[in-house]
Amino acid sequence: MRRKQLAAIPTGSDLKPIYGTGDPGVVEVLRFFKDPIGMVTKRRAEFGDITYINSFGLKFVIPLEADGSEAIAMNRNKAFANEPAWGFLIGPFFRRGIMLMDFEEHRYHRRIMQQAFTNTHLKGYLQDMQPMLRDRVAHLPVSDGVASNGTAEPVRLLDEFKQITLDLALEIFLGLDLPRAEADRINKAFIDCVNAGLSIIRKPIPGLRWSKGLKGRKVLEDFFYEHLPEKRATQTPDLFSVLCHAESEDGHTFTDEDVVNHMIFVLMAAHDTSTITLTTMAYYMAKHPEWQEKAREQSRTLPPEISYDTLDEFTVLDRIMKESLRLNSPVPGLPRQAKEDTEICGHYIPKGTYVSAINLVSHHNPKLWNDPERFDPDRFTKERAEDKVHRYAWMPFGGGVHKCIGLYFAQMEIKTIMHNMLLHYEWSVPDDYVWKLDNSTLPVPKDRLPVRVRAL
Ligand code: HEM
Repeated sequence: MRRKQLAAIPTGSDLKPIYGTGDPGVVEVLRFFKDPIGMVTKRRAEFGDITYINSFGLKFVIPLEADGSEAIAMNRNKAFANEPAWGFLIGPFFRRGIMLMDFEEHRYHRRIMQQAFTNTHLKGYLQDMQPMLRDRVAHLPVSDGVASNGTAEPVRLLDEFKQITLDLALEIFLGLDLPRAEADRINKAFIDCVNAGLSIIRKPIPGLRWSKGLKGRKVLEDFFYEHLPEKRATQTPDLFSVLCHAESEDGHTFTDEDVVNHMIFVLMAAHDTSTITLTTMAYYMAKHPEWQEKAREQSRTLPPEISYDTLDEFTVLDRIMKESLRLNSPVPGLPRQAKEDTEICGHYIPKGTYVSAINLVSHHNPKLWNDPERFDPDRFTKERAEDKVHRYAWMPFGGGVHKCIGLYFAQMEIKTIMHNMLLHYEWSVPDDYVWKLDNSTLPVPKDRLPVRVRAL
């Protein structure tokens, strides 16, 4: 077996070494993109509870059990920092976003930003998004027509959800009614920034991802600075305005630059993540029509408009959402860098080492989940509660001080869209259809999930 040690253990230390294959970065990254679950499973058999992989010219330590993921997310010794790791991956495109801040500075910004996610604001966002989402879902294309080749034209649900979540972000976050072309321009800039972070070639070569990402960042900055004065001037219920006026309990507020940086980051954080969750839910409900029907039956018993108080009554959708987030986590990992010599589960981590908790390490671990590759939403029922086996068995929203600030917002948006989908459409895929994920970006189906949609 190939086996290369990450670093020599300091003399006198009883910490354990970390091993990897030592294969070149390109080989390791392509291996991960091709079959991440298979790679993790194989590594666990070869190297036990932790390994490292070469990636983007760096060595990344990856715990292969939930305890190690917990150690990174909880960061109890404050040994791991976000900025150097996330900064390396997405810094040029999302610099000074809250996820790229650390320790005292992060706490300062988070306390102000938290004011935009209080129950009162969430209730307002939920109420505001109802008519818009109802209308957007009502205008989804259906595939009842027959195409020239004799087959019904499929609807690419990934594209549809992407459009809806972007429009929602523009309306609820920005409070701006943008012409279609302008909305598309902003959408493209976001996508270019997101894709740039995961490029293998990390240099601004014209036409390639990195260069497109830098251009995208500029488009977004100009856009937000242009609209900033009107948001400062009047208080409106959208996130942009809320961030302009938010004040922490200690009386701190954001500068113009902070607002622009946070808006760019939050829009990105909210957009693709929700799109991927919706697409994954739609995929599994198409593959498992009995679950689609079960969710629809429940939706029919509940009011068409979702309120903050009825959100918890969507128990079936809730389980489907959790199971979808488990099987295909939109944010694949939590990268960090060690600021000092430290350890993970007794393994030596020298200062400067990059580490990452990878969600699928927990989410597909047969020690934590019964038959982990099976779509089985009932594993989240109170009786079975497989997600409670370990604090980090289910971790799609991360954990610790950087835990997703938008997780309730995400649930509101996702449940509203799905509730409307279930009431108005039935969608399906051929029996033998199995999606293939593109893991070189955030994990999306390569074919953008073609489904047959029938209006009810
Ligand atoms: C299903 C949808 C979502 C998923 C799976 C998700 C996942 C995550 C994860 C894993 C992190 C932590 C990353 C880390 O620690 O390195 C995170 C952070 C964050 N998320 Fe989300 N997210 C989702 C939706 C949203 C939405 C809708 C918003 C905004 C409305 C949002 C805003 C943020 C922000 C601002 C952070 C950084 C928090 C901090 O560093 O303090 N997310 N998200």
